[in-house]
Amino acid sequence: MSATIEAPTRVAIARAADRLRAGELVAFPTETVYGLGADASRPDAVRRIFAAKGRPADHPVIVHLHDTTRIADWARAMPVGAERLAAAFWPGPLTLILPRAARVADVVTGGQDSVGLRVPSHPVARALLAVFGGGIAAPSANRFGRISPTTARHVADDLGDAVATILDGGACDVGIESTIVSFAGDAPVLLRPGAIGILDLSRVLGRAPRAPDAAAPRASGTLATHYAPRTPATLVATDALYAEIGQLLDRDEEIAVLARSVARPADFAGAWIKAPDAASPYAHDLYANLRALDAANADAILIEAVPDDVAWLAVRDRLSRATRGEDDDRD
Ligand code: TXA
Ligand code: MG
Repeated sequence: MSATIEAPTRVAIARAADRLRAGELVAFPTETVYGLGADASRPDAVRRIFAAKGRPADHPVIVHLHDTTRIADWARAMPVGAERLAAAFWPGPLTLILPRAARVADVVTGGQDSVGLRVPSHPVARALLAVFGGGIAAPSANRFGRISPTTARHVADDLGDAVATILDGGACDVGIESTIVSFAGDAPVLLRPGAIGILDLSRVLGRAPRAPDAAAPRASGTLATHYAPRTPATLVATDALYAEIGQLLDRDEEIAVLARSVARPADFAGAWIKAPDAASPYAHDLYANLRALDAANADAILIEAVPDDVAWLAVRDRLSRATRGEDDDRD
């Protein structure tokens, strides 16, 4: 099979919905990253996602809904905090982990008693959900172990032989995966930081969500594993970057650099990307930048550290996991 990247015309979206009804996979854009979708009510279809990605079968997938009118089909309870977050941030880059409804298949929840739900805002995702009518189970449309895709081309590069249809919605606005808040326990827990920040969540909840502890439901980042980019990546403090580059070049290593505030030295011959110096545009470009630096086939990628403040929390999370080889977004 080889994937067709399709413009998201009304006809293409109707055909994609038919494919979902037939139990096939469709890759589609969301405002965060591209998703690899299947009919969430069909275990056989959801299983195809795991096969295509090479992802372990016990990892739960998020169910995408057009709106909350039939949320009771998926979640048996909606705590008041979840209700508030949904009202404030849906449609948008937020996933809520809620107690599952009885009919939700184990392959969707990874056998847990909870289910992840998200109402995305991307117009192509919304059009597909509207025409399809049901829930679409979709993890990020990357092979397990790779960076999440933020363009249709990234999906084709990664999964081109495993998915027939990729709806092209351009580059994703947000660029990193959704914020995940769990309501599976007594108090809300921030399982994955994202574009909806901790201050936004706290304002709406009236208190800060907790950090995950050992009792939190299993989510991201709990397995140590390799990370993609395949090139080993290291975070380097801004004021140490020139010295580090100098040392590696002295050892004849080829390096690729993701800088933010530091200028490229005149004599530097390797791949050098100057990323935006504000958190949202930095996140928007992050995965495309890492893919581009990986493609340089250097011996090492050096990433200039990002600021310590709360605006950069989600970016710091992705970078630190990446450089520790513990990337949760390999999912
Ligand atoms: O932005 C996003 O969330 C994208 C787009 C496509 O919507 N999706 C995405 O899915 O990032 P995925 O599968 O790559 O990451 C979802 C994470 C996984 O780490 C999974 O373990 C966690 O959400 N998750 C899903 N359901 C869960 C549940 N019931 N309990 C705990 N964690 C859950
Ligand atoms: Mg993922």
